[in-house]
Amino acid sequence: MSVQHEHFVDLLRLGKSYGETRALSDLTLHIKRGEFLTLLGPSGSGKSTTLMMLAGFETPSEGRIERNGEDITHLPADQRDFGVVFQGYALFPHMTVAQNIAYPLKVRKIPTAQITEKVGQMLERVGLEGKGDRGIKQLSGGQQQRVALARALVFEPSLLLLDEPLSALDRRLRQEMQMELARMHKEFGTTFVFVTHDQEEALALSDRVAVFNHGRLEQLGTPQEVYERPASRFVANFLGDTNLLGVQGIRRQDDALICNYQGRSLVVTRGADPVAVSNTGEHWLAIRPEHVDLQPVALAGGGNGVIARMEKLTYLGTHVSLDMRLDDAQPMALRIPVGHPMLNNLEQGQPYWCSWSQQHGHLISA
Ligand SMILES: Nc1ncnc2c1ncn2[C@@H]1O[C@H](COP(=O)(O)OP(=O)(O)O)[C@@H](O)[C@H]1O
Ligand SMILES: [Mg+2]
Repeated sequence: MSVQHEHFVDLLRLGKSYGETRALSDLTLHIKRGEFLTLLGPSGSGKSTTLMMLAGFETPSEGRIERNGEDITHLPADQRDFGVVFQGYALFPHMTVAQNIAYPLKVRKIPTAQITEKVGQMLERVGLEGKGDRGIKQLSGGQQQRVALARALVFEPSLLLLDEPLSALDRRLRQEMQMELARMHKEFGTTFVFVTHDQEEALALSDRVAVFNHGRLEQLGTPQEVYERPASRFVANFLGDTNLLGVQGIRRQDDALICNYQGRSLVVTRGADPVAVSNTGEHWLAIRPEHVDLQPVALAGGGNGVIARMEKLTYLGTHVSLDMRLDDAQPMALRIPVGHPMLNNLEQGQPYWCSWSQQHGHLISA
């Protein structure tokens, strides 16, 4: 009986220690067939360690890896059928473009005529037609990256592992290659597991994002989920700027949660709250700078908001960034469109009413 396993690859309570260093702890992650999954986190958070174990280049200290429900934890890398594009897993500089792409097929002892045909197709699919005879050093950084992708995809792996493949490229080229990657993912239908420390890249490319910190998975969700409903202070801060107000006295009221900040009641839509709220422990109200509006202090009162004084205005072309401060010294950042009427007569040191709608407030518990 052949049952299509629901998940494609499962990481089950995976852990890794290097001597005294704990690189990864208790990672359970179900990779779905065909998805673009990104492992996102700061340097040293365990992303590469996870990928190395997936590839079969490192052995887990604890836990198990399964493919279609079958244990592959100790299966050698070359029997896993996974393509890799890793930092330091460089192209062969003495070979031509075509020879580089042909290499995985040669290793697999594919007949020469078939290799020639597949390499030709691959060159076309990554936009390098006619460049097969070039040397690697004659290519630009972006073209080399395409050769690396072609080499990893030519044997039609079931999973492609990519470890920060774009981090060495300049901004323009990186954005171009991001679009290429998205296109290839769609076209090839291969499952991609992609590592980056760049949150914008992760949000732009992924079906799901796994956020790592200190060797642990902090949150797994769609780009929208991790950005709009961060599960922790770390995730809120790592995925762009956020205002965090320490709040107390959380209680339910109809479909909403009410919390208390410095004597003021603030409402949060209950649906925005993923945690079971209890009044033990610490809680923060997270509000993104782009969701805070600015009004004259005379309008302070009803609705969700705080009074804050203007400290600094930075013009950023598409918008203006405002640094404000509350009476209790709490900072508050705002991101206001350049056409906003309040920007005509803002005065430094003056108080303003900073408000947001309740669905844009999000509660985080420690
Ligand atoms: N081969 C290794 N030997 C010893 N320590 C390692 C090794 N590889 C990774 N580490 C350590 O494990 C932790 C996680 O590293 P890594 O997975 O490379 O993080 P990331 O890819 O998120 O930057 C770090 O503290 C790193 O120094
Ligand atoms: Mg790394």
